[in-house]
Amino acid sequence: QPLIVRDKNQMRNWSRSMRSQSKLIAFVPTMGYLHQGHLSLITEAHKHANVVAVSIYVNPGQFSPNEDLSTYPSDFEGDVQKLLSVPGGVDVVFNPKNLYDYGESEGGEGGGGGGGGEVVSCVEKSGLGHESWVRVEKLEKGLCGKSRPVFFRGVATIVAKLFNIVEPDVAVFGKKDYQQWRVIQRMVRDLDFSIKVIGCEITRENDGLAMSSRNVHLSSEEREKALSINKSLSRAKSAAEDGQIQCEKLRNLVIQCITDAGGRIDYAEIVDQQSLEKVELIKSPVVFCVAALFGKVRLIDNMEINL
Ligand code: PAJ
Repeated sequence: QPLIVRDKNQMRNWSRSMRSQSKLIAFVPTMGYLHQGHLSLITEAHKHANVVAVSIYVNPGQFSPNEDLSTYPSDFEGDVQKLLSVPGGVDVVFNPKNLYDYGESEGGEGGGGGGGGEVVSCVEKSGLGHESWVRVEKLEKGLCGKSRPVFFRGVATIVAKLFNIVEPDVAVFGKKDYQQWRVIQRMVRDLDFSIKVIGCEITRENDGLAMSSRNVHLSSEEREKALSINKSLSRAKSAAEDGQIQCEKLRNLVIQCITDAGGRIDYAEIVDQQSLEKVELIKSPVVFCVAALFGKVRLIDNMEINL
């Protein structure tokens, strides 16, 4: 059984005791409802450290009040069982209750806005008085940042908080959430966190669908239709490798295929792998990023193209 820790001070004490024994600590932050994609990050984490910490925390700071915080799936006991099945297991599971509750009630601020900001997450809604946020100003703007304006501010902030609590040497993220990975890398560089950030390849189902905790919300028809995302991305990648380097053409191919399958495109963009800025001709490493809705379920996927 891994050690299960709910208290942030106990978490930090555990880490400091590991460090005092000269152990390297790897950290995998998650929101739970674990699948093989998450478990692949743990396997990777073992390659870089002596002990592995996983957090399971559904972060209200990255959800806007009209998003799916309340329906985000969870199964803590099931997650612990899955963590036991990974070779090497995990050493500690950090599962805090509310990382924005500092134990002092603000008194009636709930429901208000966020300090004059245009972005409001479920944290401002809760009225707990948290008001410090990390913003990675350029990288957070495009792609998922357009339709989810509070998302990357919330992710960067919770990851910074978790880094300060867990104090890891290495942190592992999935490229499934490509923009998130880049945002965290930039935050770590810009704010001098002494942490090595590692990006892991996307784990897919046998039929190509990128694994996601949200996939459980897909009906079987929707799930079938959602295969159009990976299929069209693969086709676009082959077309690029065969010489089609005009992004407009490649984007149309993907948009057409997903739309024909009944998906609604949020975005389909070919961007530079580092800056995430849009590209017109593929001349350097790019990543083709897609977000699309099938029914009410918003899915993201991407494919790197290195010609
Ligand atoms: P969550 O969606 O639970 O994902 C946790 C980690 O698993 C992320 O690094 C994500 O990129 C990775 N992951 C998810 N599906 C994957 C797949 N199919 N293949 C490879 N990696 C995959 O991302 C979050 O949680 C949160 O935003 C978090 C970073 C924990 C901050 O709250």
